[in-house]
Amino acid sequence: MMKKMTAILLCMFMILSLAACGNSGSGAGQPSTGGNFVEKQTDSNTMPENSSTGNTESVSAPESQPEGTEASEAQGTKVLVVYFSATNTTKGVAEHIANGLSADIYEIVPEEPYTDADLNYHDNNSRTTIEMNDPNARPGISGSVENMEQYDIVFIGYPIWWGEAPRIVSTFVEGYDFSGKTVVPFCTSGGSGIGSSATNLEQLTDGANWLTGKRLNGGDSQDTVMEWVNSLGLDF
Ligand SMILES: Cc1cc2nc3c(=O)[nH]c(=O)nc-3n(C[C@H](O)[C@H](O)[C@H](O)COP(=O)(O)O)c2cc1C
Repeated sequence: MMKKMTAILLCMFMILSLAACGNSGSGAGQPSTGGNFVEKQTDSNTMPENSSTGNTESVSAPESQPEGTEASEAQGTKVLVVYFSATNTTKGVAEHIANGLSADIYEIVPEEPYTDADLNYHDNNSRTTIEMNDPNARPGISGSVENMEQYDIVFIGYPIWWGEAPRIVSTFVEGYDFSGKTVVPFCTSGGSGIGSSATNLEQLTDGANWLTGKRLNGGDSQDTVMEWVNSLGLDF
């Protein structure tokens, strides 16, 4: 009887102990379960579902990463090669420069094209003779450079006409703001040097840094032309 009572008491004690364990188990597990839940919730919040977290990431990225990219793009030197060419000699040289530098190229196209008769320098009454005899002649240009302000360095090429740059090149340089730009004049000719043609053009602009110009040969190879370009000491 005593044994039976002891067994019953033992059973009751075990039942009570188990019950207590169960309670304390869930109590002790809650932070951990709660923690897991919170973690899960955090996971799901930070990753796919909560777009505000994504926004935070994409906001912080532009602040650090592309800022440098933008800055380096902004610091990159932009080059434009401008030329006038009545019979394509200067055009070939201009293309060598533009190709060698991967630069933009712009042709000064006359509103009224020059005919063979216009180019006849033996004729005192030809269009070119009349224009070159008049320092104020400003033949019209068809079209214009887009966003000239983006260029830091502007090469300007032309044929020598009567020792000077054709008047249409004067029309061009007077038509834009060159302040802060580096200008590199070059020419082709039948034999004359660049002479004062470039310094006369320079006087038509304000605030530009004109480098010493160079006469090049129409038959110069790209390598020869680029040797001169690279000798200028410019940071392309
Ligand atoms: C009206 C006119 C005047 C020229 N005057 C000169 C000159 O004074 N000195 C010279 O060496 N060549 C002179 N030339 C030759 C050109 O400068 C030369 O042919 C030049 O390379 C042509 O370039 P382009 O084909 O790009 O027009 C003259 C040509 C023309 C049409």
